[in-house]
Amino acid sequence: MDAIEIHGGRPLAGEVDVSGSKNAALPLLAATLLAEGRHHLGNVPLLADIATMGRLFDHMRIDLDRDEVDPRRVTIRVPSSPRAEAPYELVKTMRASVLVLGPLTARLGHARVSLPGGCAIGARPIDQHLKGLAVLGAEIRLEHGYVESSAPRGLKGGRVVFDVPTVTGTENLLMAAALAHGTTVLENCAREPEVVELARVLAGMGARIEGAGDAVVTVHGVESLAPMKVDVFPDRIEAGTLLVAAAITGGNVVLHRCRLEDLDAVAAKLREAGTRIEPIGDGVHVQGPRVPAPVDFRTAPYPGFPTDMQAQLMALCTVADGSSVVQETVFENRFMHVSELDRMGADIKVEGHTAVVKGVPSLSGAPVMATDLRASASLVIAGLKAQGTTLVQRVYHLDRGYERLENKLSQLGAEVRRIRA
Ligand code: EPZ
Repeated sequence: MDAIEIHGGRPLAGEVDVSGSKNAALPLLAATLLAEGRHHLGNVPLLADIATMGRLFDHMRIDLDRDEVDPRRVTIRVPSSPRAEAPYELVKTMRASVLVLGPLTARLGHARVSLPGGCAIGARPIDQHLKGLAVLGAEIRLEHGYVESSAPRGLKGGRVVFDVPTVTGTENLLMAAALAHGTTVLENCAREPEVVELARVLAGMGARIEGAGDAVVTVHGVESLAPMKVDVFPDRIEAGTLLVAAAITGGNVVLHRCRLEDLDAVAAKLREAGTRIEPIGDGVHVQGPRVPAPVDFRTAPYPGFPTDMQAQLMALCTVADGSSVVQETVFENRFMHVSELDRMGADIKVEGHTAVVKGVPSLSGAPVMATDLRASASLVIAGLKAQGTTLVQRVYHLDRGYERLENKLSQLGAEVRRIRA
């Protein structure tokens, strides 16, 4: 298994491009199932999770071809009746495969999708997805670890009230309702930029959607949709991760192709920590402080502080000149980076869903273990600051959501390299 070796202590400097968004690309790939024909997507990031979606499409007899010259340009040929099944061996490596459930049920009238099961950060149930599809008339059966969803006469409009604002739950139901007979009202929806982008692309395919980005979204079903042609927008979590990397090293960096408006909550906290952040051209200029100030923060659904940035900002707090209180309200087990950061000399105490981070003057490099995607990013960030060498192991977690992060960091002057272990 590969590892990332970092010699810490160098301020980042220079310019780098932000890649296409993993959490926008995955629902867009699923949305291609809604329309037979050839779909064209650009700026699709080269990530393990996207490759997993490609293997899933293979299984479903859908051709996904990457352009020879620009591998981030993807053509997808969806047949009239793809194989409506997502098997366990693929779904277990990527929970977002569950996003095929809504489109398959809506267009083909049936789907057999493995239950994703939990993951390192939590139980990750999909009860809200299933409840919503049932409201639209799907018959849902759970057996042998699979969800069988069927609606032979198609889905019908209905009123779905989510118990929690679930991102992929909202995305699944948006896609299902787009082809349902009649009007659907979705309440307590997730408002993340990726949800708004999916609705925008669905509208471009012919869907009739009002209110995406608000808690209540109305979808008027249509008979059929046309293939999409879209460029995936920038990954706000990768951008946020790079902002924190610049901040912790006291660096001076310009991120290109990044939308500061999607990062308000993150930028606000980084400014509170003493970081200078301002929009510049097609991106953002960031200047880190000599020593960060402590910041208290609490994760929440968008527009609150994103849970996907909690581990990264906590890494910054470990070297602040004071104590920070961090509350994780979205997932039940998203503090696994804490014990590894403590091995690097951080001083963090966890009480339930709250972590108290007492700033220390410096971190020391150490061999550490990645446990999940964003925890591994947090350890890389800490390694950039730590004195000496940090070896982040099991970086397959990192490769799920970051396009060769080590290359981007070395482009910014960090002493970092991938070791084929
Ligand atoms: C999406 O996951 C993201 N993944 C996650 O990013 C992100 O952390 C999460 O949203 C929250 O922002 C993709 O978009 C592919 P949720 P999702 O459904 O949709 C509970 C990353 O690092 N819930 O919004 O699976 C759930 O347990 C990944 O890129 C139910 O109870 O998250 C959680 O507590 C990690 N029942 C809360 O809602 C359901 O049916 C939010 O989960 C669904 C969710």
